[in-house]
Amino acid sequence: MARLLLLPMLAVTLPAEASEAPETCATAWVQCGGTGWTGPTCCDSGFSCSQMNSWYSHCVPKESIPEQTQPVSLAASEMVDDECYHMFSELSFNTLVQSFPANPDSEAKAYVDCKLCSRSGMQCTANVFGGRTQLVASHIHLASDGDGENGSGPPVINFCGDNGPGMIADGSSYKSPCAHYKNRAAVMSMTGNFVDGQNAGFTLGSRLKDIASNPSKYYFNFHSIASWTHWQVEGKGPVGMCRGVMQMSQRRLGSVLV
Ligand SMILES: *[C@@H]1O[C@H](CO)[C@@H](O)[C@H](O)[C@H]1NC(C)=O
Repeated sequence: MARLLLLPMLAVTLPAEASEAPETCATAWVQCGGTGWTGPTCCDSGFSCSQMNSWYSHCVPKESIPEQTQPVSLAASEMVDDECYHMFSELSFNTLVQSFPANPDSEAKAYVDCKLCSRSGMQCTANVFGGRTQLVASHIHLASDGDGENGSGPPVINFCGDNGPGMIADGSSYKSPCAHYKNRAAVMSMTGNFVDGQNAGFTLGSRLKDIASNPSKYYFNFHSIASWTHWQVEGKGPVGMCRGVMQMSQRRLGSVLV
């Protein structure tokens, strides 16, 4: 008899027995909180109430919550701070800035599509076409005079590139190699890296916020081996071979948790 009485407490995850428990908690994947919610705010054992947004929380298996070794509040604040922006750039050879005689890449154009997140990473896909020599670096630059169309300035985030000796080094490694042309198109997926030495006073989060708020001050730039060699010999540093102003694809994607 005593054994029977203990059963509901020992096996509360089974719905039939859970319904006999004195306090009814929400079961797996069922709502357990949110604005205006008047139902149960606890979850069956083995489950935690996980906030999806301010209007909805639901019960998720405890083992599915990442980084259990960290306090829940810390993990939640990291998710709150993950700001993501969906941006793009249409790049072409800039005759004002990038011209030099007999440039084999002077017909280069590109399209770049980026999802830039302050915590969960920066990823861009690119299609570069019409150029003829190997791509060696790409970055988002801040134009020093605020003119992302015709100005120039330091790289603040790098994307594809060659970390080898003699190539364009900005102090932070390139996390992806640039693709080679196949049938005159170089299609690639690139991971971004914050350029530590060129972001004084900025965190990645505040830099991304500035790019999203003032996209016309920034430009995406690809460098080819021909342009790198030419401008290096001229002593002008890396100028690049096709570029385009940053633009917002959408309004901010928003925080994971609002
Ligand atoms: C950039 O230069 C081109 C060519 O001179 C000009 O047509 C364009 O208006 C300039 N863009 C800006 C933002 O000044």
